[in-house]
Amino acid sequence: MDLPTSNFSTILMDLKTMLGHDNFSTILFYTPCVKVLCSIICVILLLYWLFFIPLNWTWYKDQWEDDVNDNGINCNSKRSAINRLRSTRLRNNKELPPPYPNGWYGILESSKLRAGESKHISCLGEQLIVFRSQAGEVYILDAYCPHLGANLSKGGRVIGDNIECPFHHWSFRGSDGMCTNIPYSSNIHSSTKTKKWTSTEVNGFIFLWYNVEESEVPWNIPKSVGVAKNELIYLGRSEFYVNCHIQEIPENAADLGHFQAIHDDNVVCGYWNQKRSIFSILGYHKWTASWNCTDLSHVAELNISHTFNLFGKLKCLRMNVIGKQIGPSYVHIILKSPTFGDVEIFQTIIPVEPLVQKVIHRFYSSRKMAPITKFFVFTGSVMFQRDMSIWNHKQYRSNPMLVLEETPLKKFRKWYAQFYTVNSKSFQVANNHDW
Ligand code: FES
Ligand SMILES: [Fe+2]
Repeated sequence: MDLPTSNFSTILMDLKTMLGHDNFSTILFYTPCVKVLCSIICVILLLYWLFFIPLNWTWYKDQWEDDVNDNGINCNSKRSAINRLRSTRLRNNKELPPPYPNGWYGILESSKLRAGESKHISCLGEQLIVFRSQAGEVYILDAYCPHLGANLSKGGRVIGDNIECPFHHWSFRGSDGMCTNIPYSSNIHSSTKTKKWTSTEVNGFIFLWYNVEESEVPWNIPKSVGVAKNELIYLGRSEFYVNCHIQEIPENAADLGHFQAIHDDNVVCGYWNQKRSIFSILGYHKWTASWNCTDLSHVAELNISHTFNLFGKLKCLRMNVIGKQIGPSYVHIILKSPTFGDVEIFQTIIPVEPLVQKVIHRFYSSRKMAPITKFFVFTGSVMFQRDMSIWNHKQYRSNPMLVLEETPLKKFRKWYAQFYTVNSKSFQVANNHDW
C-alpha cells in the first residue's frame, strides 16, 4: 500500500528513461550549475526575508508554563493561570493604585483593521467596537447596542461611517454615536445613541482617549517625523501578556538599580537564570541611565547609554537610548547608534484586566537597517522578558524601602500620580468580578 512511493518511483523511472540514466544522474547530483542555482535562490530568499519580511515576536506561552511549574500546579490554559496568579496577588491588593489611569491608549495596531472591518476590544473595564469606514476613518463606540444589547462587532456591518447592528439593523454613526436608521421606524429620538469614544491614529496605532473625568483632551500623541515621511518603515513587532499593575511597567524605567541586576548579562544568555548560562563568557552589557520629568507635565524621559563589553574587555556596540514616556501607557523609544543609525520603537500597554497587561512594541527604521532592526526585536524582547519574569511574580509596594540613589523612583511615582484623578476606579471596584 505504499502508493505515494510507488508513484514517485514510477515518475523517476519515466524521467530516467526520457533523459537517459546517465544524464539524469548528472543533472540531479553532479551538475555544479544546479548547486550554484540552489545556493543563489537560498541567498535571495534569505536576503528577501532579512530586508522585506517584518519579524513578529509573539511570546507568552512559555512564561505561563514557567508560572505553572513554579507553583507545581498542573494547569493547561492561560486563563486558569491568570486566575491562579491573580488569587495570589490579591492578598495584597489594598496597596495597589487604580488600575486604569487617564490618558491615550494604543488599543489596536492600525494594520489589524482594514477598511470596512470592525473589531471587539475589551480593555480598561470597557467593551468597545473599533471600526474603519470605507473612507479609512476609524471610530470607537461602546460594543453593546443600546437597543437590546447585541454586540455590534459580532456580525455588524460597516456602512459608510456607520455601524449596523446585526440584531435589528439599527445603524449608529461613528462620529457621534447617533442612531441614523431604524429599518422599521421613522421615529428616532435624538437620545437614541450609543457612547462615542475619542480616538486618533498615530505611529501605527489606533489610540483611545480614556478619562474618567470626561474632560477635554489636554495633550496629544506626537507623530514620528521619520514614520510620517516614510523614511522609517515598519520592520517588526513583539507582543506579550504581563501579569502586573500597569504602573509597574513604566516604573521600570525609573528603577535605575535593576539595569545592572537583570540587563547586564548578554542577550544570548536568555531571559531566565541567565547567570548560569555558559554564553556569559561572550561578554556583558553596560548601561548608564537617568530618568527625569520634562517641561511637558505628561512626558518623562529616560536616557541610557549602552556599550557591550566583548569577552569583558572590548567595548563595542555603543548606543544611546531615549525613552519618552508619554502619558500612562505609551513610550516612544529612539535608539541612536553611531555604527548602525536610528531605530524607533513604539511601546503601548493595554490594560486587559486590572492585573493583565498586553504590551506591544513596533519597530521602525530605514530599509538598509532591516537586519539589525530585526536583531533589536530579538534583543529587546529578551530584555523585556527578563523584566516580565519579575513583574509576573512581584507584589506592589505602595511604601517601598528605598535608598538615596533610588530618588528617581520616588519622582516617578509622584509624576505618574497625575494620571489618577478623584473618580478613578479603585482596584477593588474595578476587580470586583469572578470568572
Ligand atoms: S440589539 Fe441592536 S438593533 Fe436591536
Ligand atoms: Fe528592565
